[in-house]
Amino acid sequence: MTLLLHISDTHFGTEQAPVVEALVDLARAQAPDLVVLSGDNTQRGRKDQFRAARAWVDRLGAPVLAIPGNHDIPLSLWQRLVQPYARYSAAFGADLQPVFASTELLVVGVNTTRPYRHTDGAVSAAQIDRVGQWLMGATPAQLRVVVVHQPMEVVRARDVRDRLHGHAAAQRAWASSGADLVLGGHIHLPYVAPLAGLARAMWVVQAGTAVSSRVRSGVPNSVNLLRWSPLEARCAVEQWDYAAASAAFLCAKTCSLHVEREVKDHAE
Ligand SMILES: [Fe+2]
Ligand SMILES: [Fe+2]
Repeated sequence: MTLLLHISDTHFGTEQAPVVEALVDLARAQAPDLVVLSGDNTQRGRKDQFRAARAWVDRLGAPVLAIPGNHDIPLSLWQRLVQPYARYSAAFGADLQPVFASTELLVVGVNTTRPYRHTDGAVSAAQIDRVGQWLMGATPAQLRVVVVHQPMEVVRARDVRDRLHGHAAAQRAWASSGADLVLGGHIHLPYVAPLAGLARAMWVVQAGTAVSSRVRSGVPNSVNLLRWSPLEARCAVEQWDYAAASAAFLCAKTCSLHVEREVKDHAE
């Protein structure tokens, strides 16, 4: 059993102190094998916001894989053009597309931000190929996870404009290469959605905003816990919402996904 904690859109600068502390408590209690941060770690890409985000991440007590979101690129035009990721890299490392591999996990990060765009994200042909190469090297025991910022698929008509540019080509290629899940954030709305018409079963897993006050109406702060059981080829995606009354994250719903795996022929 492997446990992955999916956190998105912390937007440090707009974080809420009780929620920040509750998420530290959840992380320490659950002791995940990996924490994934799917972007918008800061509100405006300021140095102090990155320092606060990094200091908080260091309290979670687990390895972290992070990618940038559109809010992690400073607003200043000069910064955007000349060194859009300098502040992000100072806090989270120079690798904008990190990969985490263990016996039971393969997690591939993709930088879907584009400094010349305002909020839109994109995935290029080269990025699609790179992820595919990683996926094709995965073992049956590894849960195969791709991490992007803007959503690979949406469930509300109003969010269609926020969908990742290049999503259709990426879905086809990554499904063919064996991906199980594509994690994302950006629209501050948690959901699990199957992707249709692909070579194999693949799901989009979206996280809400973890600790920021930038919540949508009626949608509390939330994170996802993914429990992967390779022997059962099953991944439970748990959505944990922040409950103000108890100042804690509580499991709100669970989605059990049966992950496709190649059937080995043992005939001699
Ligand atoms: Fe965001
Ligand atoms: Fe975003």
